Amino acid sequence: MKNLSKLREDFPILSRRRRDGKPLIYFDNAATSLKPRQVIDAVRSYYESCSANVHRGVYALSQEATDLYEEARAEVARFIGCKPSELVFVKNTTEGINLVAYGIKWKPGDGIVSSVTEHHSNMIPWQIISRKFGLKLSYAKITPFGRIDLESLEEEITKNTRLVAVCHVSNVLGTVNDVKRIARIAHDHGALLLVDAAQSVPHMPINVKDLECDFLAFSGHKLLGPTGIGCLYIREGVEGELDPPFGGGEMIAHVELDSYRLNEMPWRFEPGTPNIAGAIGLAEAVKYLKAVGLGVIREHERRLTARTLTILEKLDQVEVYGPRNPDERCGIVSFNLKGVSGDLVAALLDEYGNIAVRSGFHCAQPLHTILGIQSSIRASFYLYNTMEELDVFEETLSRICWELGEQG
Ligand SMILES: Cc1ncc(COP(=O)(O)O)c(C=O)c1O
Repeated sequence: MKNLSKLREDFPILSRRRRDGKPLIYFDNAATSLKPRQVIDAVRSYYESCSANVHRGVYALSQEATDLYEEARAEVARFIGCKPSELVFVKNTTEGINLVAYGIKWKPGDGIVSSVTEHHSNMIPWQIISRKFGLKLSYAKITPFGRIDLESLEEEITKNTRLVAVCHVSNVLGTVNDVKRIARIAHDHGALLLVDAAQSVPHMPINVKDLECDFLAFSGHKLLGPTGIGCLYIREGVEGELDPPFGGGEMIAHVELDSYRLNEMPWRFEPGTPNIAGAIGLAEAVKYLKAVGLGVIREHERRLTARTLTILEKLDQVEVYGPRNPDERCGIVSFNLKGVSGDLVAALLDEYGNIAVRSGFHCAQPLHTILGIQSSIRASFYLYNTMEELDVFEETLSRICWELGEQG
């Protein structure tokens, strides 16, 4: 990527040095991303110069805040190719999925099909509401390299299936699912499709109309934005399938003591004071990503992933999960050192190299069970990561393998 060192200057945390002088090597981007100065400044600027509530006041400051909030919505909507009226601001991916789970007007016997590769955020809501409303929940299997198996998905769908809910990109294996084909399969059977896009929207060009999905959820904090803001896309025409799960101010057009009329889209799903600063910060993050180019980011991460796979394949003790071909995954690589605790390896990477990776089951415990492991170590990349950082990763991991080998 051109001007990478200049781009890195935008991220204040990257200039942080540890006591021993080592810079931070941040490979935990699937958990959350770092924030550029532009986003931090946009959030600060709202609080410093425009800190009023939205949609409520006729005075100038409130109108200014409302304009900023609605412009932010329009910016983010353009980013994923939908209308502002189709974009609901929520807290994060988890809340977006729960909004659909609790919003759909379920009938007993309705079915939900998810997949075994899902993050708990796209699994637990379905388990909870299945119990609550007497729904049938089933899961599509995955192929040996971790993509959702479309044949298995189709086998699980019945005439009662109301919703298919799958991830676009696995947060453990980095595999990219063919969401458009899944949308067609779901629609052919009269079901709706929800896409958990937490790991795709930050890393590749996305257009919800191309994907043909009905709902799509993602989090701002994984795409350079603030925490506490995310989005749920609801395709125009589908909103009638949902009742707002939460009530309160701003989501209604008219209220009587015993009745109410809902507000227009998207406000009917945004009760109460929203995360105004978060939305403004998210729009700034989106502008930043667009200026770099999502295609450029995708290619940069592909190269980092290819290099990581090569590093890992050279080490005998290492077991890698997911496809070997970097073209078939996003910038996420999960692995283990055979017979060694992932937490220990992650702690040593931190101690020796100031390298931040995640260890554990990454909120995808059933997938780890299917892979026959309890946990894994996950390195995940973003636009500011460099090949030089991977040199340090290689050196540090080789040292860890050697030391643990000596002890074992
Ligand atoms: C695939 C996937 N779905 C959902 C989530 C949940 O995101 P959040 O915690 O921002 O709601 C994550 C977070 O890691 C994820 O990777």
